[in-house]
Amino acid sequence: VILLTGATGTIGSALLRRLVADGTAVRCLVRDPKRLGPERVRVQIALGNLADPSSFRNALRGVDTVIHLAASIRDQPRGSIEELNALATLRLVRAAERAGVQRFYFMSALGASLQSRTRFFRSKALARKAVESSSLETTVFSPSIAYTPGDPWLTILDRLSHLPVLPIAGRGDTQFQPIWAEDVADCIEATLGMSHGRSESRHHSFDLAGPELLSYEQLTRIALAAWQRDRPLVNLPMPVVKASLKAVEYLVGPSVFATPEEVGLMEERMVSPRGTTDAESLGVTPLRVPAVLG
Ligand SMILES: NC(=O)c1ccc[n+]([C@@H]2O[C@H](COP(=O)([O-])OP(=O)(O)OC[C@H]3O[C@@H](n4cnc5c(N)ncnc54)[C@H](OP(=O)(O)O)[C@@H]3O)[C@@H](O)[C@H]2O)c1
Repeated sequence: VILLTGATGTIGSALLRRLVADGTAVRCLVRDPKRLGPERVRVQIALGNLADPSSFRNALRGVDTVIHLAASIRDQPRGSIEELNALATLRLVRAAERAGVQRFYFMSALGASLQSRTRFFRSKALARKAVESSSLETTVFSPSIAYTPGDPWLTILDRLSHLPVLPIAGRGDTQFQPIWAEDVADCIEATLGMSHGRSESRHHSFDLAGPELLSYEQLTRIALAAWQRDRPLVNLPMPVVKASLKAVEYLVGPSVFATPEEVGLMEERMVSPRGTTDAESLGVTPLRVPAVLG
């Protein structure tokens, strides 16, 4: 059995569709099974929460492979960004070792390091360290921005694009190599059951990048063109945006549409020197953004 966390997310739902179609036995660790949609009747369900390590033990019973996609880019009532990403991953890895799991797949983020400026990226780097220091066979994927039509980021952009001018936090010149979530799911699926042969290492890693090197502003313009909405872009100073969002967060509470930490992610460069090489080595040719959004 495969234990999949984050099955309700952008990448997880694309992967789950593939696994179910292949007839793979999947158990999903979820907070709310309803969010799995129609797939919920085709999978095993383990109620759990990244903030509740005691839920991992049950979820891991009889599991040989863990695909750990669940993560959070904002603090939650039950755990901080660091607890939900770094600590929970460490605890899941340890629980998987105790449960006799063989392979552990983890989703990091392209460019994440212990020196990154955002808490989310630093927590991903810590999580990766925990994964790669384990006794399991591990595979770490590091995607650039992974998007799909209707995802939370494109939904916010869509709403903002109804304004007469479209605000961009900061200079909008940070670079990304956006990759379609369906291409990411294809890459993960391709590595399942892949034998690394006589490869000397137990730890494998893949950068998952799309074929274009785009600044945030260019990416926004491509989305606007796909939606046939011509809007002038206005760059707002990042400190002003963060301070305003902090005030809104104070008034609205945790359901605020974006947090200062989340807009900070727009300034994390997510570029791989290997470009699409790793995806192609898995037999996946990532699509360009206009081909997906158009
Ligand atoms: N999308 C990107 O641009 C991108 C870039 C780099 C790395 N990544 C990484 O790739 C992975 C998948 O990304 P994604 O975009 O598919 O994520 P996503 O759409 O934000 O989904 C996050 C998933 O994590 C689950 N989750 C959040 N908090 C949880 C908690 N406390 N307990 C249990 N589950 C929890 C969510 O479940 P609920 O349905 O209950 O909310 C959801 O299934 C993540 O690790 C992410 O950090 C994504």
